[in-house]
Amino acid sequence: FAAMPALADTAAVQHPDPPPPDPASFHFPPGFAFGVSSSAYQIEGAVHADGRGTSIWDEFCHNPCRTTDGKTADIADDHYHRMPEDVELIGDTGLRHYRFSIGWPRLFPDGGSKPNPKGFAFYDRLLDKLLSKGITPWMTLYHWDLPQALQDKGGWTNRDTAYRLADFAAATAHALGDRVPNWLVMNETAVHAYIGHGLGYHAPALTGVNNWFCALHHLNLGQGLAIQALRASGSKGRVGTVAACEPVIPSSPSPQDVLAAQTLDAAWNGGVLEPLFEGTYPELISPYTAPYERSGDAATMAQPIDMLGINYYSRLYIEHNQARPLNLFFGPNKHPSPYYAGGWPIEPDGMYEILKSIQNRYKPREMFISENGYATGTPDAGGVPLDDVSRISYIAQHLRFLRKAMEEGVNMKGYFAWSLLDGFEWNDGMKWHFGLVAVDPATLKRIPKRSYHWYGAVARAYEASA
Ligand code: NOJ
Repeated sequence: FAAMPALADTAAVQHPDPPPPDPASFHFPPGFAFGVSSSAYQIEGAVHADGRGTSIWDEFCHNPCRTTDGKTADIADDHYHRMPEDVELIGDTGLRHYRFSIGWPRLFPDGGSKPNPKGFAFYDRLLDKLLSKGITPWMTLYHWDLPQALQDKGGWTNRDTAYRLADFAAATAHALGDRVPNWLVMNETAVHAYIGHGLGYHAPALTGVNNWFCALHHLNLGQGLAIQALRASGSKGRVGTVAACEPVIPSSPSPQDVLAAQTLDAAWNGGVLEPLFEGTYPELISPYTAPYERSGDAATMAQPIDMLGINYYSRLYIEHNQARPLNLFFGPNKHPSPYYAGGWPIEPDGMYEILKSIQNRYKPREMFISENGYATGTPDAGGVPLDDVSRISYIAQHLRFLRKAMEEGVNMKGYFAWSLLDGFEWNDGMKWHFGLVAVDPATLKRIPKRSYHWYGAVARAYEASA
């Protein structure tokens, strides 16, 4: 949710980072996955190549360009053409798991049933390359890049889009399912609904309470239908999904700020987990989802899943704000933690806190951290912080709190760093750099940072001991 507005966009509080801890000092039990995450639109580029259709993000970048730095993802990291090299990078450092997404408009350019063979050929090559390097694929179906043709019919505010996602899931399973051991249906539905349909900072740039909750419900419904389609497809892969889960804290103890925070918590965390695990919506938001719910939806949304991916970056600080949907908005962070350049506080204990609460309430069969990462805002390549000890420190702290949660019974099976490459950061264009590997914007050359080597060493030490 790079859209968190009104936060500092300069490197804020300086704080000394400890020297990188020994990569062999992390002790995770057998069966744990160390990986990296990415998404199609943020790295692939090649938006006009080989018959790809237009997505809502192409519209967002071009008609007119709404990114804060004026940059688009037309080229991004050109991963579409450099995929083999990128997969080599993952494998060479010792990582054995890769989470990526498939571009719906690359596979079905007009969002309908007519496939684009060249699009399928790309993901065929990607899967084959991963498997040949001994890397396990974790494939996300939908990471926010809806075909524009579906948006023209209302996108996620149109109930029909949920059924189109299920068709997309079935067709993908048919074509690629023999090589996908882990399916992840959605990425951060709550963020897509709120930032993209409520606040309008992300594509498709819709605003207001109605669009927000209409989209949220249809995303939850689509998720349930797609899970059913994947199960019915005969693919042997496990099926799960990914949610952004963060503790939501009022910016002040005032009753208005407390209500604002509780309401966002209901929309952000509960609004995705409750329908998935219990078939209901939290009371604070159910008046807004009710107009879109139909009989049978509850059962469709509440599908058993094999694993739940949690994307965690920091706590969210929320305050009352009459100018915004549901009178709430991101507020100042009152927590005394050091900031990092993306404007988000470093709060590894918040990860521990949210994992414990999800475990207690929903008891998922299995969980893993599907994203967690650290952004710098300085220009890359020429001045990229390749000696990124702060990123190492960030990952190390989160691994320690993850381990603590596991020791207390939380069933965590993996950790995926966000991200392999510096990439397109949604409405912030190319401004923030989350990569373990920098990409020179002029030459697109991949330049591993210190964190790439260190994190790879953590994975290798784990493999050696497991
Ligand atoms: C979560 C999103 O899934 C990802 O696309 C984004 O780049 C990161 N957050 C960082 O903002």
